[in-house]
Amino acid sequence: MDVLALTDGELAEIINADRYDAELRAQADALRREHYGIDVYIRGLIEFTNVCKNDCLYCGIRRGNASAERYRLESEDILGCCETGYRLGFRTFVLQGGEDPHYTDEIVCSLVSEIKRRFSDCAVTLSIGEKERDSYAAYKAAGADRYLLRHETASDEHYKRLHPKEMSLSHRKQCLFDLKELGYQVGSGFMVGSPYQTAENLVEDIRFLQQLKPDMIGVGPFIPHSETPFAYFAGGGLELTLRMLSILRCFFPNALIPATTALGTIHPRGREMGLQSGANVVMPNLSPVSKRKLYSLYDNKICTGEEAAECLKCLAGRVESVGYKIVVSRGDVKK
Ligand code: 5AD
Ligand code: FES
Repeated sequence: MDVLALTDGELAEIINADRYDAELRAQADALRREHYGIDVYIRGLIEFTNVCKNDCLYCGIRRGNASAERYRLESEDILGCCETGYRLGFRTFVLQGGEDPHYTDEIVCSLVSEIKRRFSDCAVTLSIGEKERDSYAAYKAAGADRYLLRHETASDEHYKRLHPKEMSLSHRKQCLFDLKELGYQVGSGFMVGSPYQTAENLVEDIRFLQQLKPDMIGVGPFIPHSETPFAYFAGGGLELTLRMLSILRCFFPNALIPATTALGTIHPRGREMGLQSGANVVMPNLSPVSKRKLYSLYDNKICTGEEAAECLKCLAGRVESVGYKIVVSRGDVKK
């Protein structure tokens, strides 16, 4: 089957087909092996603030969640997480947080440049939301290599149902194109099975990504969080998420695609199956264990009690159990 030649309607049909498609998965795995062999890249995720000025309806750290206990890490703590990570073999650090005005451009820039100074063979990825183009330019000048900003859904109508009035899909897209122009390796993506999502929406997501041509694509199941307006919606399915990973690998043969923590949360072997379906990246947590549970975007998140070293060991075993291998590398995109 030539996935690239399918019409929107045919793609929607495949997305809707309620089964784990072995042929599609084999195709995706063959493509990932062609470009990346059996290598799995690791990214050290540092969730440095759960303060957020946004109010996305799906997210547990939305400002409207008054029961979330908020925290911020100091720059020295963040550098400490990098130090631990570096010793464990991480060569990419992902600084992720809510949209927290406390971290001014100046703070972000000095943090990025200090990480690059101390760990010059590492890549720094930022995942701190929508900013002005000038801010993105400043972070880039300070040494940031990559930026993650999921578009969440490429349908305007669907976007409005997931976000408060003051947010817009057009602004989010603008940010993504700005980041590309500024020379970042850019990651986008979306949740699978978010409330009101249709197969047609998922086709639109693929079409938008074809326009954007991202280097990284983050896709994981929606998981309800009890303290959000979406608490009683169903979560995204395992098979649908795996099918989307495979389809994305076919469309983007050289993309960096993580088997997400969310996927590992909805099934004990979710990340392993993600790797077998086309994913080639995992993003273990380097945040201090004392803060892990507080960065709660969705309920029942895994790996909140383990030290980074334990998590990595566990993950290495999981990766090997399905025939792949974690490598010590920046893991840049292969063009
Ligand atoms: N379930 C799954 N993923 C979520 N995210 C936010 N809230 C949830 C949820 N309830 C994802 C969003 C965001 C990324 C950091 O986490 O896609 O971009
Ligand atoms: Fe974190 Fe297994 S990967 S405990």
